[in-house]
Amino acid sequence: MQLGVRAIAGIVITLFVCFAGLQWVGPFEDDYWSVISDFIGSSHPLFLHLPIGLWFAVCALMLASIFVRDSVPRSIVYGLTVLTFVSALLTFSAGFILYLGGGYGRATIALHMYSSLAFLVSLATFLFFYSTANRPSFEWLSAGVTTAVLLIAGHAGGVITHGDPLDRAPWRIFAERANQEFKSVDAVASGRIFDSLVAPILEDKCMACHGVERAKGKLKMNTYAALLKGGSKGACLLPGDAAGSLMIQRINLPLDDTKRMPPADKEQLSLDEAAFLKWWVSAALPEEQSIESISFPSEQQAYVQSIMGDNPEAIQARAAKARSKDLLLKYADFQTRYPGLLVQSVVGEALFELNAVSLLGYDEASVRTALEPLVDSIIRIDWNRRQLDTAWAKLFSAAAIVEVLNLSDSSFSDEDLLLLLSTMPELKKVNLTGTEFSDEQVDSIRAHSNIETIVLTGTQLSEVGYQKLINHLPSADVISDYSM
Ligand code: HEC
Repeated sequence: MQLGVRAIAGIVITLFVCFAGLQWVGPFEDDYWSVISDFIGSSHPLFLHLPIGLWFAVCALMLASIFVRDSVPRSIVYGLTVLTFVSALLTFSAGFILYLGGGYGRATIALHMYSSLAFLVSLATFLFFYSTANRPSFEWLSAGVTTAVLLIAGHAGGVITHGDPLDRAPWRIFAERANQEFKSVDAVASGRIFDSLVAPILEDKCMACHGVERAKGKLKMNTYAALLKGGSKGACLLPGDAAGSLMIQRINLPLDDTKRMPPADKEQLSLDEAAFLKWWVSAALPEEQSIESISFPSEQQAYVQSIMGDNPEAIQARAAKARSKDLLLKYADFQTRYPGLLVQSVVGEALFELNAVSLLGYDEASVRTALEPLVDSIIRIDWNRRQLDTAWAKLFSAAAIVEVLNLSDSSFSDEDLLLLLSTMPELKKVNLTGTEFSDEQVDSIRAHSNIETIVLTGTQLSEVGYQKLINHLPSADVISDYSM
């Protein structure tokens, strides 16, 4: 057809030269150009749907021509493919300019960039076979390859902007969240100046651009080591030398300076925060320096107190909150592994109710291990129609705040029941209906003056035992076969 073999060969060779050339081209270091390239590059997401749509239209037309012979003129398919090629070239150029603006590491975009280029090459090859029109099998083969390469390029591009789709899988999100939160709970508990007072400022005001995902100026600020390492202009933090440290220089530039950090249109550091960072750098404090080991100069007190609070209650309240947060996270983790077994007694509070009906099908030993950190926050246990063996009784002996214990129709040994009851001083309601509970076990209830209701219908309890129990618990509601 129209496009000559030589033209196609020329295109393919040019693209191969681009392949090789890309090896040497790196992002602009210059701020001026990176702003401009950011702008041009921003059209990349706009363009990119064009070649994808066009190419699938080409595929659809080719498929249609199998089912209804000669229904689609070849010139139309050819024309559409040329359009695909041109739009893909535009998209590629815009994407490449976006890359030159910096902020994307080469490793991040390598697959996307090279597979996109491979798409262009493959498209040109397809054009060649299609225009010679005498080798249908090659047409189909190169169409298949082109589609595969496009899928790879598209997926790799999606990973850059939206992250790996699997990263949003619920199990990964829960694990990641728990991990993050544990880290921040740990950070507060670590009592280090860097974790508790410095990192939160950087996290708030800098890491959107200098974090794990983006590293403007090749600078990451997510760890102490990363600050020392710095970015394209070298170390960002020189402990002991505030005036020489790039991070302090940049945050103190006038607002209208293009090198001011954070950039003028972004949320700025408060005066206290800026002063604290400057003091921290000049004090040359190592990463491990603890908060207690330092008495802060009076100018830094305001910031330190705004973060740490100053009275014992505030500190305790924070610790309690951290603890219940920690528990809720462990609970979330437990919940993803064993849905339904443990429910929150009050939404948002770290008090739980255990229902053994949902145990069915789980390995009990693993459930016990997972339950261990949560067991002292359980306030209700429903254990119907199950054996309560020694392993469970041992675990529950740590459940010191249980108020409701329902053992109806379950089986247990004397010792295990004794173990349970002797370690649950808060019990208010106990249900032993249909169990082997007998006169011998009455004594184990004796200490529980808090019990409000105890149900003993259908047990081995004799009338004598019943009378004895009533004497033990004069204010409780004792429901048994004899109380009717
Ligand atoms: C909105 C994005 C953004 C935020 C937020 C931001 N920066 Fe930047 N930063 C950039 C860009 C873009 C560059 C590269 C251009 C330049 O050097 O000015 C850069 C470069 C830097 C550099 C030079 C790195 C090098 O070696 O080239 C330092 C130091 C820096 N930033 C510190 C900070 C600090 C400290 C904060 C937080 C208080 C911060 N930045 C917040 C976008 C940001």
